[in-house]
Amino acid sequence: MSEQGTGMVRAADEQQTREQALVEQVVASFDHAQDARLKQLMQALTRHLHAFLREVRLTEEEWKAAIEFLTAAGHITDDKRQEFILLSDVLGASMQTIAINNEVYANATEATVLGPFFVEGSPGIPLGGDISFGAAGQPCWVEGTVTGTDGRPVPGARIEVWEADEDGFYDVQYDDDRTAARGHLFTDEMGGYRFWGITPTPYPIPHDGPVGALLAAAGRSPMRASHLHFDVRADGKRTLITHIFVRGDELLTRDAVFGVKDSLIYDFVQHPAGTPTPDGRDLANRSWASVRFDIVLAPAHRARNPFGRQESVNGQCG
Ligand code: BEZ
Ligand code: FE
Repeated sequence: MSEQGTGMVRAADEQQTREQALVEQVVASFDHAQDARLKQLMQALTRHLHAFLREVRLTEEEWKAAIEFLTAAGHITDDKRQEFILLSDVLGASMQTIAINNEVYANATEATVLGPFFVEGSPGIPLGGDISFGAAGQPCWVEGTVTGTDGRPVPGARIEVWEADEDGFYDVQYDDDRTAARGHLFTDEMGGYRFWGITPTPYPIPHDGPVGALLAAAGRSPMRASHLHFDVRADGKRTLITHIFVRGDELLTRDAVFGVKDSLIYDFVQHPAGTPTPDGRDLANRSWASVRFDIVLAPAHRARNPFGRQESVNGQCG
């Protein structure tokens, strides 16, 4: 090798040595974290973050752009808008965390993202009641059962449902304080439930901020496949936060937040105007839809929160 060639090899070796030394220095800085889990998280984060920086050979301009992106995400975030969760959603980080924390358990129903439009304090409705509260959309009869993985019915399970109207907006996106297209009910003695909602339609995730700009730059759509949200909880069972999706929706393969699972795609059967409804409701000559969603809950177990108190599984991200 020429003298110049040897010099280049030496420089490359020295470069690697310096970069690796920095990784080890930062990893070691967490050696004395009091909480062992915090130590594990921060040391692994350091290793993966530095591996990323070194792999892509991040430029200082790119580092600055990333800081500006995160700053913009912070500025648009308030008690109603959470751009960091949205970022986690479009990176698939929310769905990966959900997959890790809702381990496959027999035939238990799969979980998916919570999304930003859940609100506490939804109205209670009786079995067979209507959660639409005037929201625009085709009436949709939803029914099914809640059972354990042993097949036993779960009476008294609390089912919370929420969805967008046919214009693609949740009630909380209007500025008139309405409550519509959300509610909760409890299963009967046989674990059965039924209610009227509206047939889900597609809508975009909030895309007027930095996450929307990122999607546009990447040529990705902000659209979510049509869905109806469920939060199902019962004593002794793992809380299930999920959606059902509409079979045939063309967005199923490109949901912006990777929330679609094959097992959550259901037939929403269309019924022409005039078809008798399951509960005899008079729909004034409108068409309607129906879907059956049988929910299977895994047994409860507990997870540890390294940043504080013990929490039950499914504080749910996303
Ligand atoms: C939603 O389901 O409404 C949603 C989920 C994740 C991000 C944005 C919206
Ligand atoms: Fe949604």
